[in-house]
Amino acid sequence: MTGLPSHLSTTAAAYDDIAVLYAQLVRDEFDSLPLDRAMLAAFADSVRAVDGGPVAELGCGPGRVTAYLRDLGLDVLGIDLSPVMIRLARESYPDLRFEVGSMHALDLADDELDGIVSWYSVIHAPPRDVSSYVAEFRRVLAPGGHLVLGFFESEGGPVTTFDHRVTTAYRWPIDELAALTAEFGFTEIGRMLREPREGERFRRGHLLMRLEK
Ligand SMILES: C[S@@+](CC[C@H](N)C(=O)[O-])C[C@H]1O[C@@H](n2cnc3c(N)ncnc32)[C@H](O)[C@@H]1O
Repeated sequence: MTGLPSHLSTTAAAYDDIAVLYAQLVRDEFDSLPLDRAMLAAFADSVRAVDGGPVAELGCGPGRVTAYLRDLGLDVLGIDLSPVMIRLARESYPDLRFEVGSMHALDLADDELDGIVSWYSVIHAPPRDVSSYVAEFRRVLAPGGHLVLGFFESEGGPVTTFDHRVTTAYRWPIDELAALTAEFGFTEIGRMLREPREGERFRRGHLLMRLEK
């Protein structure tokens, strides 16, 4: 992509470098994460319940979540900053659509989507930018559309950066992220906190929301 803000170019380059290893590490991760699967299943049910159309996974990386959503019956495409991630996703799931792009300025029309999944991708946005990301989600989601966010939770602390293995990332208080999305017309349907399993460092936060326009 041309004309990216420098921090997004940095994120894209960092994920380009790690893409092959990352894809191997996460490919079968959901097999041992029933609560994460349950949250995505609840999202898929919510979209299908309103006869929902297209869904985008924003920050799709190697596409394993996009493919999981396809398996749940959704009409889904994946978008990511990293061209190498997108190449790997296309190779692994040739039946799915994947595009290079950024959440801060999506190449999608107003109200084009009925669902958005951001699974550990908003984590890399500088906190001051997250409102503009949520505004962009609101723009491309049709009224009644659903949003699910997966992120590292800050466990009682404020928004804080940490030494993520790929590039700068932030942990968020779940209440603060829920309140921020509410400012843009999202109503919370439900949330889940998952304690870190062996090998993980932080509590995970998951939020499921619906857009009222
Ligand atoms: C931790 S990975 C998660 C990938 C995938 N969602 C998964 O769970 O396997 C974060 C991904 O978000 C992407 N990303 C970060 N900022 C982005 C942005 N502004 N727009 C699109 N993708 C972004 C990165 O390139 C990376 O592939």
